[in-house]
Amino acid sequence: GTAALAMFHPMADVTNPDNNWDATIQLIAKLPTIVAAFHRIRNGHEAIVPRQDLGHAANFYYMLFGKEPSAAVTRVLDACLILHAEHTMNASTFSSRVTGSTLANPFAVISSAIGTLSGPLHGGANEEVLDMLVEIGSPEKARPWLVDAVATKKKIMGYGHRVYKVKDPRATVLQELAEKVFAETSRPVSYTIATTLELAANEILGPKGIYPNVDFFSGIVYQNLGISKDLFTPIFAIARVVGWLSHWLEQISHNRIYRPEQIFVGKSDQPYIPLEQRT
Ligand SMILES: CC(C)(COP(=O)(O)OP(=O)(O)OC[C@H]1O[C@@H](n2cnc3c(N)ncnc32)[C@H](O)[C@@H]1OP(=O)(O)O)[C@@H](O)C(=O)NCCC(=O)NCCS
Repeated sequence: GTAALAMFHPMADVTNPDNNWDATIQLIAKLPTIVAAFHRIRNGHEAIVPRQDLGHAANFYYMLFGKEPSAAVTRVLDACLILHAEHTMNASTFSSRVTGSTLANPFAVISSAIGTLSGPLHGGANEEVLDMLVEIGSPEKARPWLVDAVATKKKIMGYGHRVYKVKDPRATVLQELAEKVFAETSRPVSYTIATTLELAANEILGPKGIYPNVDFFSGIVYQNLGISKDLFTPIFAIARVVGWLSHWLEQISHNRIYRPEQIFVGKSDQPYIPLEQRT
């Protein structure tokens, strides 16, 4: 869908700042519409067009469910989008800068960034957190489960971060807002398991600098709002497209193509062996 948008906005060159800004707005505005329409159509419902009077997060919810979100739900969804909007040179952002540096059109740039999210190492941990919480089953099982997981060197999903060695500040903000939503809806058992797990993990993993990251609570929030698990990563893209495009605009304003050198460390001075003699 993202790549196909280029057909509506042909951009043969990226030297016109007005066109680039227009494409930026189009991409940020249209990604939620594409995701919501895809979800509705696959469930046999009509796609819903966005409303002029709703903000970005509220519009996404409205296009997904056909009803307006409450103030607390709007706030938490808005915060999720803001918290995920940018996070320096991660895999998807790097990919968008590399593609952008060829002066590719922005729809191709964002498509290549989205492509990185199809791998399990970037995005998607919040889905696995939910599976983990289901596996734990109940709050009283959280501590023994963790002790066993650490003993068998299992990775705790939603825990640890390449940069943060404290609780991810985004997780703290999200948790506070989530509590407000749960006061309106209900406190899901998965959240109680998660907070019990966190207490045990503070003791067991805290000394190694392993604390909850943003993915620990985001999936619980989305699930509580009735959002399907397989939309979590597309929602990440809806948020992170802002960061990708900011990097793209910066890249093309002082562009130089990415072309790293590499150092060959394999064997050299090998004799030539004719094809028919090779095994
Ligand atoms: C995010 C992540 C890839 C960062 O990895 P990293 O900074 O390279 O961490 P390291 O691999 O250097 O880990 C250091 C130690 O902590 C352990 N560790 C790191 N994250 C852990 C986790 N989530 N659960 C258990 N142990 C963990 C490692 O096993 C390693 O232990 P060791 O020293 O005994 O070998 C890693 O924490 C992880 O896989 N987390 C789970 C997936 C996740 O939530 N991803 C979303 C990130 S926003």
